[in-house]
Amino acid sequence: MLKLRDKHFLKLLDFTPAEIEGLIDLAADFKAKKKAGIPHKLYEGKNIALIFEKTSTRTRCAFEVAGADLGMHPVYLDPSGSQIGKKESIADTARVLGRMFDGIEYRGYGQEIVEELAHYAGVPVWNGLTNEFHPTQILADFLTIREHFGTLKGIKLVYMGDARYNMGNSLMVGCAKMGMHFVACSPKAYFPNAELIAQCEAIAAETGAVLEFIEDPIVATKGAHVLYTDVWVSMGEPDDVWQERIQQLSPYRITEELMNNAGDQAVFMHCLPAFHDLKTTVGKQIYDKFGIDCMEVTDQVFESDRSIVFDEAENRMHTIKAVMAATLAV
Ligand code: CP
Ligand code: NVA
Repeated sequence: MLKLRDKHFLKLLDFTPAEIEGLIDLAADFKAKKKAGIPHKLYEGKNIALIFEKTSTRTRCAFEVAGADLGMHPVYLDPSGSQIGKKESIADTARVLGRMFDGIEYRGYGQEIVEELAHYAGVPVWNGLTNEFHPTQILADFLTIREHFGTLKGIKLVYMGDARYNMGNSLMVGCAKMGMHFVACSPKAYFPNAELIAQCEAIAAETGAVLEFIEDPIVATKGAHVLYTDVWVSMGEPDDVWQERIQQLSPYRITEELMNNAGDQAVFMHCLPAFHDLKTTVGKQIYDKFGIDCMEVTDQVFESDRSIVFDEAENRMHTIKAVMAATLAV
């Protein structure tokens, strides 16, 4: 069993390429076991706390199912049902939960919150998404890319949209670590911050990764293996940014033309949830207000054979299982 040096899983910057590869290998192994019906209840009797200050479908279900598969008992704390942050500080919460649980997942706002939780908890803490990073998502993305292309090294991944937020940041870090070709494609104002770019460029110098920041979608997507996007307005952001985002990011919507421009090898990826039709409340509201029937990706691309988003979603569970197993290993 892979044992991680850093018992927490807070951001990919904390891990070596070999450790990241090891987690992906372990996830692939768990996936094969699950498909073959081979039980792997390695952590029977352990309890895990799942703190969600923001909503979730994939991450919560992945932690609960993976936890149960490993023989553990998960306890879900929803965005309103605990004292966290309102009546009790993160440091106090961490010290309480650390006495009852063997591991803690946290989804919420600033990265400093999950780092503080980890500092005080005394048990492994796993980042289930912060404003800055979404590291478990990247492991699932990379397992999916490896399954599809057989390798990570040299794969050209173009991230279209708001590249300054959790997904753009984390994909850039992950690609830098794994020797990939990362392109952020957006207006300049949406590129990741200069400090993180500098950190990733230093990593890229070691791994052979290439990092590019390109405003023109036609130039950026040429020859890409993966066109990746995410929602234009993330959880926790105010409603009044929609108009500006739609205006500024519409040229970066992933369309059939962009997929064709990339080439026959290109696949479409998205962390989900995605706004590709009018079958959601927000989708309908945006249509009523702005008259658009999709946002970051067209329904045609989302539903096409080149879309591997549901393989990607499934892999959240196998990779989260690997993260918990490797950080709990003694
Ligand atoms: N991709 C992802 O994190 O999805 P959820 O918000 O549903 O967890
Ligand atoms: N950027 C998105 C990711 C959702 C998985 C958000 O933070 O809402």
